[in-house]
Amino acid sequence: MTAIPEAKQPGAPEPRLIDLHPAAEPFLDAVLDGLSQDQKAIPSKFFYDRRGSELFDQITRLDEYYPTRTEKALLKRFGPEIAERVGAGAQLVEFGAGSADKVRLLLAALRDLSAYVAIDISRDFLFAEAVELQRAYPDLPVIAICADYTRRLDLPDTGHSRRVGLFPGSTIGNFSRPEAMRFLSTVRRMLEGGAFMVGVDLKKPTDLLNAAYNDAAGVTAAFNLNLLKRANRELGADFDLAGFEHLAFYNETEGQIEMHLRSLKPQQVTIAGRAFGFAQGETIHTEISSKYAVDEFQELARAAGFNPAGVWVDDARLFSIHFLDSA
Ligand code: AVJ
Repeated sequence: MTAIPEAKQPGAPEPRLIDLHPAAEPFLDAVLDGLSQDQKAIPSKFFYDRRGSELFDQITRLDEYYPTRTEKALLKRFGPEIAERVGAGAQLVEFGAGSADKVRLLLAALRDLSAYVAIDISRDFLFAEAVELQRAYPDLPVIAICADYTRRLDLPDTGHSRRVGLFPGSTIGNFSRPEAMRFLSTVRRMLEGGAFMVGVDLKKPTDLLNAAYNDAAGVTAAFNLNLLKRANRELGADFDLAGFEHLAFYNETEGQIEMHLRSLKPQQVTIAGRAFGFAQGETIHTEISSKYAVDEFQELARAAGFNPAGVWVDDARLFSIHFLDSA
């Protein structure tokens, strides 16, 4: 008998993996730029190194942090209604796919997709998830594209009736309102007349918002401070981790949570031979998380060329999933 080494399982389907080699902004440039500004800042996208991703995962399971569990419950509960809206033969395109756990909740209800396309900048994770998803759904063409999803790219043709984008997680909250509008316009052009489903965190009483970003167990604080640990490790910076504290508050005027790292004393930090002075109480701005009333987000979507066609909200009015048609 002839054994065929490493023979593939007959018929075991494989996803299509496309690498567009996105150029990631170097952490060093972002930190040097950010700390040179009047209001010091480090972009929130740098939270997600291995430890940061672990901490975020812990955040999603905290009592105080309602968004993840509420959005998942909405996807489950309204799956059939969402499937109805999506319609037959659609190409489902997920922006910033990361882990496929949200789309799995939808795939249970979505029967006849032409394909599932996942776009993410984090190559290894994206491709591994695509392989797993393809195994679980052998009849669904799975396409993973490693790319920066905020930049316009040509999506593959899969013989679809139309495209339906998916952007869960209230990740859109990390954009300012003008940035969110620009992102929505870019997505609308990529979807070429298709629809867009967006998970959006709702405005709500300030104490609930503040609690979600100031959990009692201190996981969000660790997540925020991990940025400085990462700078020390990867850039050889000399941040004194005990010299900074986590600060998160709801800015009612702007309609956003703001996270900062606040210096507990006057101090100097050196990074790549450059010194940065901190006054006591001075902060590094690390994240915004924008909150929208339903009609406020619909107005933003209209300004970006979408036609709001439906919205799903939980009974406690914590979280929303918007369905936007191209206008
Ligand atoms: C991943 C951007 C949706 O804004 O709630 C959680 C990130 N920051 N706790 C959010 C986050 C602090 C999260 N998003």
